[in-house]
Amino acid sequence: VDFRSDNVSGAHPAVLEAIVAASRGATSSYGADPWSERVTARLGRVFEREVAVFPVTTGTAANALALATHVPPWGAVYCHREAHIHVDECGAPEQLTGGAKLIPLEGAHGKLDAGTLAASIGGRGIVHAVQPAAVSLSQATEAGTVYRPDEIAAIAEVARRHRLVVHMDGARFANALVTVGCTPAALTWQAGVDVLSLGATKNGCFAAEAVVLFAPDKAEELGFRRKRAGHLVSKQRLLSAQLEAYLTDDLWLANARHANATAQRLAAHFAAVGLTPLVPVEANEVFVSVPAPLAAQLRERGFSFYPWSALGPSACRFVTAFDTRPEDVEALGAALRHAQI
Ligand SMILES: Cc1ncc(COP(=O)(O)O)c(C=O)c1O
Repeated sequence: VDFRSDNVSGAHPAVLEAIVAASRGATSSYGADPWSERVTARLGRVFEREVAVFPVTTGTAANALALATHVPPWGAVYCHREAHIHVDECGAPEQLTGGAKLIPLEGAHGKLDAGTLAASIGGRGIVHAVQPAAVSLSQATEAGTVYRPDEIAAIAEVARRHRLVVHMDGARFANALVTVGCTPAALTWQAGVDVLSLGATKNGCFAAEAVVLFAPDKAEELGFRRKRAGHLVSKQRLLSAQLEAYLTDDLWLANARHANATAQRLAAHFAAVGLTPLVPVEANEVFVSVPAPLAAQLRERGFSFYPWSALGPSACRFVTAFDTRPEDVEALGAALRHAQI
């Protein structure tokens, strides 16, 4: 049973069926197709305003393109020190911005806070320093926690004062959304987010993410940047079909609710044997300190999970997904109860 990541899952059947249906016949390429038009219109309804939507195949591309469109080569991007853009994208944001500097900040449980951000911003107008340009928030965070609208708004207020663009890395946006229980608008532009990397791959798509611009004035530039970066997919309808299926009948929310609920169940099994999660479980990731003999027994019984040294020498990460089977979570619970330690 594989709890290493939500990327170990395949795609949801409805998404795969949508790809098969969309691939019949011929249609215009490079995004001038009905699927792409419908996805933009639908996301406009989801976010309750006009949006510009740029489908891409990876979250790294979405993040790097979103930042590149708003940050000059001499810009500074403030982010959490665990942020995916900082530690897991091989310098793609730096490359596509043409050399902007990512400034990693501390923050409990993977979250930035407004005070730390305000205290870290500096160098405006000084020719020797990179210029404050953006703040990037991961929603949900790399520690499996979520930002509430008031926390985002407080950060965005600091950003506004310092003329920073607010970027949200929403690789797990749906997981955060169902936890907070507000509208997608309240969790983004109404709280001050300017540009969103809307993830879908982890939560049921095959390979589909989208840069969502809440201020369409950057749309033309982003279009050129996406092409230049090699991320304008000629058969874009097959990406948009995934996104359409993802949003249809609220599949994205149902998938996220399932993943989050199974994570809660997993956390309860750990807590029942005295292993309280190291970070509040607010999305689909559980971080727990597993003594080495117990970890070895779990692995012997066929459970896989990653060690997570950032949280301590015996810390481990367990991730659930849209297709995590409840019986597999119960099997882990039973293995924990019967373990010999
Ligand atoms: C927080 C976060 N952002 C972005 C991504 C997107 O990554 P990828 O480029 O692998 O699609 C991930 C995937 O692990 C992630 O966890």
